[in-house]
Amino acid sequence: MAARAAMLMGVEAVVVIDRYDNRLEQVRTHIGAETLDYEEVDVLAELREMTGGRGPDVCIEAVGMGAHSPGPQYLYDQIKQQMRLQTDRPAAVREAIYACRKGGTVFTLGVFAGLVDKFPLGAVMNKALTLRGAQQHGHRYIPEILEHMSRGELQTEHLATHVMSNEDGPEGYRMFKDKEDGCVRAVFRPGA
Ligand SMILES: NC(=O)c1ccc[n+]([C@@H]2O[C@H](COP(=O)([O-])OP(=O)(O)OC[C@H]3O[C@@H](n4cnc5c(N)ncnc54)[C@H](O)[C@@H]3O)[C@@H](O)[C@H]2O)c1
Repeated sequence: MAARAAMLMGVEAVVVIDRYDNRLEQVRTHIGAETLDYEEVDVLAELREMTGGRGPDVCIEAVGMGAHSPGPQYLYDQIKQQMRLQTDRPAAVREAIYACRKGGTVFTLGVFAGLVDKFPLGAVMNKALTLRGAQQHGHRYIPEILEHMSRGELQTEHLATHVMSNEDGPEGYRMFKDKEDGCVRAVFRPGA
């Protein structure tokens, strides 16, 4: 949805990064953005290549406190989180800061609770980055979103991968959490 919103606002190119094939395929088919699998490629190198060596103008972190990452930093972040030495795992924020072009903007959309470790403040300062974040301002944006939907510019049906009854609620939440069976969203309908 962040990628689609950026496209509706007229950006030239959007690249979505994840590691699940079904989610990346959804992005290519239903959103029309380019994709990168972070387990298959060196994300920073690919983004530099795609942007003529400069880096993206804006990097949106849409992962949040439970970020996964390849390599030893994942173990490091998990241990620190479980020992309560940090509340959140900031792998995707770090990557966004390193990837962003000088003078660019890093937006934290994923939910964070509190404190993080190994935050590349030096890169923020030396690259003159703007850091932003927000909870969605529902009252401000929902009328605009509904207008886009009524014009067919924004579609969400593909996200509802699992339609279930209310009684299957706990199972639906578990499938969403574990991303089982390609679950992107479990939608509950009485009597489904
Ligand atoms: N700011 C807001 O108003 C707002 C609104 C909605 C959701 N959120 C937050 O946004 C975040 C994402 O929400 P969602 O519903 O899309 O969650 P989701 O679990 O459906 O998707 C998160 C995706 O991030 C991927 N991911 C994990 N680590 C990654 C990494 N290092 N690099 C790239 N991708 C990685 C996962 O594979 C997964 O596909 C959550 O933290 C959610 O709470 C914030």
